Amino acid sequence: MIPPSESDPAAANVLLDVQNLSVSFGSTVAVDGVSFQLRAGETLGLVGESGSGKSVTSFSILRLLAANASTSGRVLFRGIDLLTLPEREMRGYRGRQIAMIFQEPMTALNPVMSVGEQIAEAVRVHHPRLSRSEVRERVLAALDEVALPDASRRYSDYPHQFSGGQRQRILIAMAVVNQPALLIADEPTTALDVTVQAQILKLLRRLREQHNLAMLFISHDLAVTAQVADRTAVMQRGRILEENATAELFRNPQHAYTQRLLRAAPTMQTDRNRPLATLA
Ligand SMILES: Nc1ncnc2c1ncn2[C@@H]1O[C@H](COP(=O)(O)OP(=O)(O)OP(=O)(O)O)[C@@H](O)[C@H]1O
Ligand SMILES: [Mg+2]
Repeated sequence: MIPPSESDPAAANVLLDVQNLSVSFGSTVAVDGVSFQLRAGETLGLVGESGSGKSVTSFSILRLLAANASTSGRVLFRGIDLLTLPEREMRGYRGRQIAMIFQEPMTALNPVMSVGEQIAEAVRVHHPRLSRSEVRERVLAALDEVALPDASRRYSDYPHQFSGGQRQRILIAMAVVNQPALLIADEPTTALDVTVQAQILKLLRRLREQHNLAMLFISHDLAVTAQVADRTAVMQRGRILEENATAELFRNPQHAYTQRLLRAAPTMQTDRNRPLATLA
């Protein structure tokens, strides 16, 4: 098989190329022929209502789906189809080249292990030969990057000793500590209040710029996606209805469903005396 970079020079900087991905659980089709591409430094927003297949799409990229899932299509990362890799090789990608952050920071952290140790663990998995102090240095650098206050003093604190926003920063530190090329963020701000949400979005934008990080940013909220995504794809019932530059999607939505999603999100122009549109 010829990787796309060799067959098509214009596609040379494509990092992730998802081709005709389908996932079903028994007779339930969760993802139905989804295709999209992501380049280095670029953010693609994936929006759609609950159950539209956003998380299943993201989990299938890292092959983290339940055993009853059946998957078809291709997930090319730098031209290598992740769906056909042996599990042992897949582990070299997960958390190393491709990292993921989730909606609920508390459940993604181990409650009985200090946050410093948890991030250190993520470093050691991929760099087993680093010394204790080198690992600690990397952890502290990552905590600094995400602007966690007093990182060295709080290294040995446990997850419950941090606020929700701080926990999400810790998870982001764990995701970026091995300098991945791609970050999958599945509703990373949904559990946070708006002020903290804005801070986390700002942090993600900064990390993307500093590290030329590609990001797949998943949200049910178009207004949130618009703050980070260069391009946005709209999903409904397992399919991508349309994909466009984010500004263009807002200006000129092609699909009735996208128009409804846009009407359901308040903007500065929204008449506050009228109720917001609801999704059918
Ligand atoms: N392990 C599973 N077994 C069976 N069905 C599943 C499983 N995981 C997901 N599904 C189904 O796949 C569909 C897509 O789910 P998915 O979690 O991707 O939605 P989503 O777009 O992420 O929604 P939300 O915005 O609520 O997170 C749903 O119908 C869901 O019930
Ligand atoms: Mg989801």
